[in-house]
Amino acid sequence: MALWGGRFSQAADQRFKHFNDSLRFDYRLAEQDIIGSIAWSKALVTVNVLSYDEQKKLEKALNELRISVNQDPEQILRSDAEDIHSWVEQQLIEKVGDLGKKLHTGRSRNDQSTTDLKLWCKKEIYHLIESVDHLRKSLVITAEQHQQAIMPGYTHLQRAQPITFAHWCLAYYEMLTRDKDRLQDTLKRLDISPLGSGALAGTAYPMDREELAQWLGFAKATNNSLDSVSDRDHVLELLNTASISMIHLSRFAEDLIIFNSGEANFVELSDRVTSGSSLMPQKKNPDALELIRGKVGRVVGALTGLMVTLKGLPLAYNKDMQEDKEHLFDAIDTWHECLDMACLVLEDIKINYEVCLEAAKQGYSNATELADYLVAKGIPFREAHHIVGEAVVGAIAKQKALEELSLDELKSFSHVIEDDVYTILSLDSCLAKRCAKGGVSPQQVRIAIAAAKQQLSL
Ligand code: ARG
Repeated sequence: MALWGGRFSQAADQRFKHFNDSLRFDYRLAEQDIIGSIAWSKALVTVNVLSYDEQKKLEKALNELRISVNQDPEQILRSDAEDIHSWVEQQLIEKVGDLGKKLHTGRSRNDQSTTDLKLWCKKEIYHLIESVDHLRKSLVITAEQHQQAIMPGYTHLQRAQPITFAHWCLAYYEMLTRDKDRLQDTLKRLDISPLGSGALAGTAYPMDREELAQWLGFAKATNNSLDSVSDRDHVLELLNTASISMIHLSRFAEDLIIFNSGEANFVELSDRVTSGSSLMPQKKNPDALELIRGKVGRVVGALTGLMVTLKGLPLAYNKDMQEDKEHLFDAIDTWHECLDMACLVLEDIKINYEVCLEAAKQGYSNATELADYLVAKGIPFREAHHIVGEAVVGAIAKQKALEELSLDELKSFSHVIEDDVYTILSLDSCLAKRCAKGGVSPQQVRIAIAAAKQQLSL
């Protein structure tokens, strides 16, 4: 029986009912709906709608329901209730009879659904912060293990300057740290309770909404009832945070897919996160990483989808807004899974030190060093850049690296070049010179690892 039976003489068409009902996805809000209902029952005592004893009975029944739902959430799906709010109310009435019918006094599903979702977002944000931290830890531990792994760094996917695998890991650590900041920031703005806003104009019962907010663990109560029931900014913000983080994860995945390719062979992924081909026996495919890279589409799609749904909606609540939940649940589940998968990939990744080193030696990635060397000898940088360009062309013609050219050969490009150039051209020197904050020098990488470990209490 629908909640609004009195006004209607015909039952809903089954196809419409299926189209309209949200229970099959909002059943995930059962716990939040029950928590919200307990707080609401307490507020109803303060405005003399419920007696103290009645409230205790309701609270007891709701707590029993909460335990049963936690044990078997799927039981909810066996009901034909329209949504989780109707389901909880039905269950309550079954348990305590007519008393249960009093609970909805002064409350609307409009403020209930947004309250439930905010409570759910808060809980999820704490879990997500844990998952993000887990990956941040994995990145720092991996960085610490591979400080000596010299490899080429790229721009335009062309070998540019040598870096270390540790420095690469720490780049992703920084991104994930910003993702965590964004989660904390999102939490600040969403931690405001809409409960007691009624359908749109506020509840007609003069309760203390600040106290109600506190009972629910929110920092305060919202200011405007129209805004309270229409606001989904927090869902957009969370989806935006998820999207940015998924973009980070997809770049992480793409880098590793390239590093793992037969062409690069810098890393080897474990059998635990790869799969074979049904036809080609030699294949070991980086599926975990490809799926991380691919799933960014769903998450960004969820953000875009909800933005479009909300655009141009008149105040206040409209049924369109029920579309917030499927997007959000799917995006958050996906983000969680991808964070976990990224940790799993790092767990037993192998770095092929020799291959990485060989690649770093090729590609003239020490050309900038030679230019800086010439600058130190008094040649203006623009001119030095040109000279080194010619030296690279000459070296390519001889199929040699810059450091493999003889001193005479090097001198033919500039007479200021002396024997000391060879130390400058070594990879170790290339790395060591980048010792300003944030650079790839072993000393700076050590400092960065120590700072990250301190942040993570490792
Ligand atoms: N299932 C609805 C949602 O998720 C709950 C609010 C329904 N309110 C209404 N006036 N029909 O948005």
